[in-house]
Amino acid sequence: CISRRTLLRGGVAVSTAATVSAAFPPLLGGRVARAAGVSAAFSAQPLPHSFRPGRTETLWSYRADGAAAPGTAPQPMILRARQGQPFTAVFTNHLPEPTTVHWHGLRLPVAMDGVPFLTQNPVNPGDSFTYTFTPPDAGTFWLHPHLNSLTQLSRGLSALLIVEEAQDPGFDADIPLLLRDWRIGSDGAWLDLVDERESGRAGTFGPLHTASGQEAPVLTAPAGGLVRLRLCNADVTRILRIVADDLPKGAAVQVIAIDGHPLAKPETLDRESIGPGMRCDLLVRMPERAGDRVSFSNTSSSSPWTVVTLTAEGPSRKRRLPQRNPLPANPVSRPDLKTAESLRFDFGAGVEDGEKSSTAKPALWSINRRAWVEAYGVTGPTPELPMLPGQSFAEAKAAICGDGTPLATLERNRTYLLELTNYTPHPHPIHLHGLAVQMVSSTRDGLRIGQIGDTVLLGPKERAVVAVVADNPGDWMMHCHIIEHQASGMMGVVRVT
Ligand code: C2O
Ligand code: CU
Repeated sequence: CISRRTLLRGGVAVSTAATVSAAFPPLLGGRVARAAGVSAAFSAQPLPHSFRPGRTETLWSYRADGAAAPGTAPQPMILRARQGQPFTAVFTNHLPEPTTVHWHGLRLPVAMDGVPFLTQNPVNPGDSFTYTFTPPDAGTFWLHPHLNSLTQLSRGLSALLIVEEAQDPGFDADIPLLLRDWRIGSDGAWLDLVDERESGRAGTFGPLHTASGQEAPVLTAPAGGLVRLRLCNADVTRILRIVADDLPKGAAVQVIAIDGHPLAKPETLDRESIGPGMRCDLLVRMPERAGDRVSFSNTSSSSPWTVVTLTAEGPSRKRRLPQRNPLPANPVSRPDLKTAESLRFDFGAGVEDGEKSSTAKPALWSINRRAWVEAYGVTGPTPELPMLPGQSFAEAKAAICGDGTPLATLERNRTYLLELTNYTPHPHPIHLHGLAVQMVSSTRDGLRIGQIGDTVLLGPKERAVVAVVADNPGDWMMHCHIIEHQASGMMGVVRVT
């Protein structure tokens, strides 16, 4: 009998410490699949990697088909689509367990949303699923599994989806980075993926920090150039607080977009909190003198660390910040605040007396005192995660989702004000699938009123109000993107009829 502890370990060490090249391709981010109307083919697969010499572990990775190369396991695949153009991606599962692909932040048809049992059947080992949609919004997005999420995300499954603007916004360089930690110890071996006491608090943190698979990478960017630095927080737990270190002469940094959506007015970067799941696009004006550096640090932890350094190198048009056109707004429906109905969502710990979570796992967290517990810590079909051949969709869905009653039902095309209250002493990045949220008010200072996004970073005890236009029909997940919180109850469904 395998103990839960064993199941929660990241993986079994590969016995031979194969020499893995430490040299990464100059452009971080693995293979690029260009999607001019069509087509990416990619798979989820186990790949060996050595974070430390002499120790090789198995990561789970998305790779463009045919692109797996030694040493690339932690580098994220980058898919590119174009705003308003059909995008089709054929996904194949080469993992030893079922999975799905969720396109985080995309406003797509619900059948493409990648939530097992709710929107599609799990993709079994060896099977494929074709995802096809036309992204209405340009910006920085990402993809990850929505099944056995804690294990699958922690082991590495995450990739970037860049939706390019219909018209090239004219940066001198575009650098996407996927930021995440790993539960890898100083010897390069997997640690337990979760510490169960931490699941009931802020969550379990990974001690090894990477930007697109490298620790504190140093990249080059055109001297005097205007660089779009896309930061995606794909970590399962950590809220990042990004600052620019002392800027050299001629350099400047602005926040230009959040969750793919441009700011109405760019803001000088001060300290930007980026919760798990969220993205932040920065506009970096590089110094003109070759060799001068701009670096960014994370300061959300008591001992800050360098996230990435950009070194000025090579020619550019040497434009100043105001000489760049602002990013065009995405076509998000305008809320009608006058007729809006308010809906309450209370984020807390624990469930109603007598109410049980939908599986045998304990519910640590809840929304409106109800818990949807994703079976977690299991690595294959088990009685807790029943998706055995022969089981009907309805049976499997009932076992995972309880009766599937939504937290709220929204009438199509109406505006709603979601009142989100955090009754806990911990922050929760609350993510809503399929719909755009627009910030209205908060008990906290510094909210960007009117800003559009897909995730609301709710501080301890914060109460925030966001507007949603219910213009995309379907059953959409709402959950905390600290994956331990999601997995242990802080998840539910919002239905748009
Ligand atoms: Cu990245 Cu259900 O979300
Ligand atoms: Cu949470």
